[in-house]
Amino acid sequence: MGSVIQLKKQINNSYSDLKNSVEDKLVLVEEKIKNKLTSEVDLVQKISDYHLKTGGKRLRALLTLGSSKLCGYLKGGRDINLAACIEMIHGATLMHDDVIDNSDIRRGEKTINTIWGNQSSILAGDYLLSRCFEMMVEDGNLEILKLLSSTSAKIAQGEILQLQHKGEIDMLEEIYLKIITSKTAVLFSAAAKVGAILSERNNKEKEALEFYGKNLGLTFQIADDTLDYNSEINLFGKKVGNDFYEGKITLPIILLFQQANDSEKKQLKNIFKQNIRSTYDLSYILKLISKYKIISKCYKKAEHFINLASNSLSIFKNSKEKKNLENLTSFSLERSF
Ligand code: IPE
Ligand code: IPE
Ligand code: MG
Ligand code: MG
Repeated sequence: MGSVIQLKKQINNSYSDLKNSVEDKLVLVEEKIKNKLTSEVDLVQKISDYHLKTGGKRLRALLTLGSSKLCGYLKGGRDINLAACIEMIHGATLMHDDVIDNSDIRRGEKTINTIWGNQSSILAGDYLLSRCFEMMVEDGNLEILKLLSSTSAKIAQGEILQLQHKGEIDMLEEIYLKIITSKTAVLFSAAAKVGAILSERNNKEKEALEFYGKNLGLTFQIADDTLDYNSEINLFGKKVGNDFYEGKITLPIILLFQQANDSEKKQLKNIFKQNIRSTYDLSYILKLISKYKIISKCYKKAEHFINLASNSLSIFKNSKEKKNLENLTSFSLERSF
């Protein structure tokens, strides 16, 4: 990989601030996931243990815990159960996604499909999803059940829509936004809205958190897609260039195609038409990305969603929790992991 463009010298602390502010609850979320994934089937237990060990950032759980706190949820542990449930939906989609994307590294470790094969990864994802549905039913709130089950259906549709447009170099930005809204932003949106539902807040506040989560999710996925062309594996925890080798059309490629001259466009078309792309092809793309300053253009685009996200919290009165969530928007873009 060529050199990595550094965005800011120092990233803001919002992720660790948020994590620290709900630390006790996050420990209980981990416990809940562990208990829920217990299985008598040896292989299921092994995969579950591995999945737990390689936990990830737990960003969606933090969103649920943070928004519950913002909305003043105090009674009981429903925020913990639902944060666990949302993380498990996320975990399930990753197990499926790594098969679809042929990914061999996630969270800095081998993927489940690499260790136990595609079939096990798909079935383990199904196992996680089924356990999620049990948890939603246990929670018993119809509004939440409706929200999380439709979110799960939207994620699947987003992944399929992306598959349908694979290799389509002249894909419209609008389609890209539709894909990432469904596959990523809707879960962020649900994770944030749950806090307002639990606290029986009014519709305006529910919608504000829903909108906040959606725009945070869009920012997060744009950053992720940009990091695929501008990161280092030891920080990112995923193999750089994976989207490219898979022929996935993401914002950097869409913007590059818009800027490229006719002969470059022709070359780009050829590269994405092939079944397999080489390291030589990636170097060519990286050279063009640098020539047209595509990385900064992607970050510029994402700033729009950052602003939408942080402005949407203005209806809440000022608090530490609100500040943490507001600052999380720039973290989701500036992050390097
Ligand atoms: C990965 O999400 C999938 C995307 C939406 C890009 P995260 O980066 O939040 O994954 P983990 O849970 O921290 O590994
Ligand atoms: C992330 O998909 C969204 C889902 C898993 C549904 P990606 O394929 O873009 O994310 P990574 O790069 O594998 O984490
Ligand atoms: Mg994918
Ligand atoms: Mg993937």
